[in-house]
Amino acid sequence: MADIEKKPIKITETILRDAHQSLIATRMTTEQMLPIIDKMDKVGYHSVECWGGATFDASLRFLKEDPWDRLRKFRDGFKNTKLQMLFRGQNILGYRPYADDVVEYFVQKSVANGIDIIRIFDCLNDLRNLQTAVTAANKEKGHAQVALSYTLGDAYTMEYWTDIAKRIEDMGADSICIKDMAGLLLPYKATDMIAAMKDAVNIPIQLHTHYTSGVASMTYMKAVEAGVDVIDTAMSPFALGTSQPATEVMVETFKGTPYDTGFDQALLAEIADYFRPIRDEALDSGLLNPKNLGVNIKTLLYQVPGGMLSNLTSQLKEQGAEDKYYDVLEEVPRVRKDLGEPPLVTPSSQIVGTQAVFNVLMGERYKMATKETKDVLSGKYGATVKPFNPEVVEKCIGKDAEIITCRPADLIPDELETLENEMKQWKQQDEDVLTYALFPQVAVDFFKYREAQQTKVDATVADTEDGAYPV
Ligand code: CO
Repeated sequence: MADIEKKPIKITETILRDAHQSLIATRMTTEQMLPIIDKMDKVGYHSVECWGGATFDASLRFLKEDPWDRLRKFRDGFKNTKLQMLFRGQNILGYRPYADDVVEYFVQKSVANGIDIIRIFDCLNDLRNLQTAVTAANKEKGHAQVALSYTLGDAYTMEYWTDIAKRIEDMGADSICIKDMAGLLLPYKATDMIAAMKDAVNIPIQLHTHYTSGVASMTYMKAVEAGVDVIDTAMSPFALGTSQPATEVMVETFKGTPYDTGFDQALLAEIADYFRPIRDEALDSGLLNPKNLGVNIKTLLYQVPGGMLSNLTSQLKEQGAEDKYYDVLEEVPRVRKDLGEPPLVTPSSQIVGTQAVFNVLMGERYKMATKETKDVLSGKYGATVKPFNPEVVEKCIGKDAEIITCRPADLIPDELETLENEMKQWKQQDEDVLTYALFPQVAVDFFKYREAQQTKVDATVADTEDGAYPV
């Protein structure tokens, strides 16, 4: 019998980033992660996604941890496994576009502290917003992966996806990720999509999806059969629901096939045993909402990410207008069309969702436009795949408003020096200026906390030195 060509599927483990971001609001601490990374390092993962996304903000704001310190501890522990982060293009890990010098310095320091693979995306799939980060990653000898925000709509034909894939390859990316944040990619569609992408480019293709709509593991199976190179999964205690398909399940699925990962299920079981009590604790404390673990069919019906649905619910609740929920859900696709049909991912999902709420509650569309809606219409976020609705542009920003057509960051002067000056009294390491750039207020609160902790430790050391108990 002829040998079947072996093509082991590669796996990116997300439990240290997306999985806990999606299920427990990014609250896993470094202390909870460190004891298990030695075992995780032996699995044979293609990479471990463990940094970036919301972890940076959550570490500082809620856990009082230095995210850079967490990264260095990961680097010490993971001796054989590549470390991966998620990076929001020109917005880095924050919520506004930064000057190129900040983006470049952030990439440089991420790689210097241990990141191997940088997954870079933009909410409009405007590649101009990714170029600086990709070039910086190339320069630092990091792996630059460009992630396409996957979405549905008239503009998003197979030609759109294959064309943009070719442009990504041309811009110097080392691989492409299809980032399906809402779980909209259906299994048979994945077959077509992966086959077309593999035809279009030579660089590896990775698929990232969420279990929200219940189809994700079938989608992976079809994608793997169609030749995808890498899939993103999470260890079972933090899998399914709004997170990724379970690592152990995908590993078992491909056992004995040409796609066999060769991973040791006994080792995976030990890792799952470690994380299960952390999940149970999160369930007991209410941090893990069982609602997030079920299948959310509304994401398929309205093509809206799960996180956006819960945001809309709470916005309407605040206004005492919960009865308008379905009106708002029907307004979302209309607003999205007016704004050039962008994918719905941070921050476009919030912008479209909030405007849809205003349009319904005010009883007149765009009677009140948010600042962010006006910014999108002025081109400050970049170019959308389709043109804006001209009537909406006129109503929101006027007929003669100046529209930005260049790369938005071309209009932002270098800012690193100013930032250094603003924060120099707090500086203890080079990276602190980047922490400050991203979240100025939260960073200063953290720097103060850090100093207070250090004073405490110094006092303890002094006590011991003077005291009668040598240690
Ligand atoms: Co994700």
